[in-house]
Amino acid sequence: MAVLKKLLVTGHLGFIASAFCNRYRDRYDITGVDFAGWGSMEENCPEGVVDIRADIADEERMHAVMDDVQPDAIVNFAAESHVDRSNEDDSSFWRSNVMGARVLALEAMRRNIRMVHVSTDEVYGDALDNSEPWIETSPISAKNPYSVTKAAAEMLLGVYATSERHGLDVVITRGANTIGPRQFPEKAVPKAVWCFTHDIEFPLYRTPARRMWLHVDDHAAGIEAALRLGIKGEVYNIAPSFANEQMTAGVIGMVRDIIGKGRVKEVPDRANYDLRYWMDPAKAKRELGWEAQYDLAATVQDTVRWYLENPEWLEAANRVLEGNR
Ligand SMILES: NC(=O)c1ccc[n+]([C@@H]2O[C@H](COP(=O)([O-])OP(=O)(O)OC[C@H]3O[C@@H](n4cnc5c(N)ncnc54)[C@H](O)[C@@H]3O)[C@@H](O)[C@H]2O)c1
Repeated sequence: MAVLKKLLVTGHLGFIASAFCNRYRDRYDITGVDFAGWGSMEENCPEGVVDIRADIADEERMHAVMDDVQPDAIVNFAAESHVDRSNEDDSSFWRSNVMGARVLALEAMRRNIRMVHVSTDEVYGDALDNSEPWIETSPISAKNPYSVTKAAAEMLLGVYATSERHGLDVVITRGANTIGPRQFPEKAVPKAVWCFTHDIEFPLYRTPARRMWLHVDDHAAGIEAALRLGIKGEVYNIAPSFANEQMTAGVIGMVRDIIGKGRVKEVPDRANYDLRYWMDPAKAKRELGWEAQYDLAATVQDTVRWYLENPEWLEAANRVLEGNR
């Protein structure tokens, strides 16, 4: 494969892409493209990254951006990412998550460069308690509008990769439930830190659900390994060890223990609530040499520590969340 030096990274004002940029800005020249939409924070803009505001679904604009930047590869993180909001109205999810991925794929094909597409374990649907962990060839069975759009994009890019007419060099990653610094506080862990430090009851869905908890730095490292070493057209689960599986209530309890106080109240489940995602990380270890470094305790501790040390970020994010900025 051609030398990879210049990257176009989308969604760099969001949670995972900003962690990726912070981790790899010395290894690559990175240009970020983000339209500063829901879930983004100006404060997240990583130092040393060229900051472009554009909508990845805008074909003309992205064509011009690509002409200017001339990247060696695209890493596509940009997406509408919140399940609850997709239950309310999924139109922006189709635009960003499917049309946006398509526009980037067209540009990658035109220029004959690699594209890494960041997808999610949610495309597999909901794992039964006694099921085998999902491997990359397990059936796709998305169960909420957000994950349906992620699955749709994957399928389109998969066809672009395998059809002779298109020949897209794409690698798809399916990340597990990720936590760490700079996650918008509509998501469980930063929301729990906010609630417990402000004497607000944390709303916990009534039916117990479990997740494999992945540190954002591990997720970023898995994506970077896929960029360098992934095989064209392949999919890789980016999941922590099985021991990182824990009930959401258990992780919220860990957050409360670290903070030393906090109250929880039960609330009705969200619509289309998946109770378990259960992924096998073996292929990424075997083929990319990647494996998660953080165990569950370190994942939660490092995450909570960051929010406690950066209260101004959490305050600003909550103001955005409440529409006050
Ligand atoms: N958070 C998780 O647990 C998790 C797990 C697995 C996979 N993923 C995937 O990782 C990616 C990043 O997720 P995140 O949690 O960092 O999301 P996020 O919501 O924090 O960030 C997404 C960013 O994308 C930008 N964006 C959205 N649509 C855009 C568009 N049309 N043009 C330009 N920018 C646009 C937003 O402004 C935002 O800054 C997503 O593709 C998501 O599906 C997330």
